Amino acid sequence: MTTHPDSALAGLLAEAQEFGETIRKDFPILQRVLHDDKPLVYLDNAATSQKPQQVLDALNGYYERHNANVHRGVHVLAEEATALYEGARDKVAAFINAPSRDEVIFTKNASESLNLVANMLGWADEPYRVDADAEVVITEMEHHSNIVPWQLLSQRTGAKLKWFGLTDEGRLDLSNINELITEKTKIVSFTLVSNLMGTVNPVEAIVRRAQDVGALVLIDASQAVPHMVLDVQELGADFVAFTGHKMLGPTGIGVLWGRQELLEDLPPFLGGGEMIETVTMGASTYAPAPHKFEAGTPPIAQAVGLGAAIDYLSAIGMDRIAAHEHTLTEYAVRRLLEVPDLRIIGPRTAVDRGAAISFVLGDIHPHDVGQVLDEQGIAVRVGHHCARPVCLRYGIPATTRASFYLYSTPADVDALIDGLHHVRNFFG
Ligand SMILES: Cc1ncc(COP(=O)(O)O)c(C=O)c1O
Repeated sequence: MTTHPDSALAGLLAEAQEFGETIRKDFPILQRVLHDDKPLVYLDNAATSQKPQQVLDALNGYYERHNANVHRGVHVLAEEATALYEGARDKVAAFINAPSRDEVIFTKNASESLNLVANMLGWADEPYRVDADAEVVITEMEHHSNIVPWQLLSQRTGAKLKWFGLTDEGRLDLSNINELITEKTKIVSFTLVSNLMGTVNPVEAIVRRAQDVGALVLIDASQAVPHMVLDVQELGADFVAFTGHKMLGPTGIGVLWGRQELLEDLPPFLGGGEMIETVTMGASTYAPAPHKFEAGTPPIAQAVGLGAAIDYLSAIGMDRIAAHEHTLTEYAVRRLLEVPDLRIIGPRTAVDRGAAISFVLGDIHPHDVGQVLDEQGIAVRVGHHCARPVCLRYGIPATTRASFYLYSTPADVDALIDGLHHVRNFFG
């Protein structure tokens, strides 16, 4: 996407205001007024999104009319619950253009999806097995959920953990890609969009190099699936992980998509009910994917809620949502850069960047920035955003992060900018 001249941007902003205002009507929580008289300005969408009435109704409706355990009942409610749960799988598969619904595994969140892959590879047979001779490649901009599982794996197996560094502009430094990804690399795992900086990463170059050396690719799409069209077949990766609560769904549901032949070959992660074919006291055989990877009672209501979220997003269109967020990001970056002493951590244009924008404001601690913004009804996130290596890279303890979504408006950006001027005055 490109940046626009002022006149074109003005037209887009008017459209974005109208679009955001229409969407907001579906989100009861966005009508809240805080601290007596401050309308809520919710800019913490990278942490979690709010939920439209349609998702709340689907959750309630499930519990009011269909609640039962799935797969093993013969009564009406069990059949309905199973149809709803498996129907949600169909919706996810269609949303990410998965070649088969059996490639969609429900987990409890993106963290579990990422841990699932790391554990499978530690226990797998050749050629996938990660052992002492193997290398694993990640990046310095990962969420802790895509760092710690690989650290654990390398501690257990002796595998070497390597990572892409970052440029001063907040992009991945690909200059040493051929030394990082080598014949020894078993898997490259990286985020499509940085949760701290908003950077959108160059998937194609990394996937191409990984494929050249026969390495698997896992993409953490937690900050991508809620905001853009994502087609797993186009991405060319082997696994894609994401989390439901950032895309209008409830908490407690995540997704791992994996290529079918891999899921067939790889061993299970957790054992229990639902994931077996037969069990004797001596040994068990496993159900085919995806059930092999879904031990125990799954997050049934949460899957139904995620399905309703996907219906909601699809009715609007992910292209439309991405364009809306691009306009907001372009406007927000421009206006933030006008605030004295403000330094954006990450790309300073809207090109190849998502709608999460981190910044520091002079020497005012981000926790103080967040507190004074909260007094004005503005919800942002402060801290290291579970991506502490990024803060270390740029020599800062923490950032303030504003992140936008489909119901955000240019007026929200204006409120943030006014709020930041207030913060500066407050701290002299
Ligand atoms: C890029 C990225 N990956 C993974 C996660 C982890 O998501 P969850 O906490 O839902 O497992 C997040 C959440 O902030 C994220 O932004």
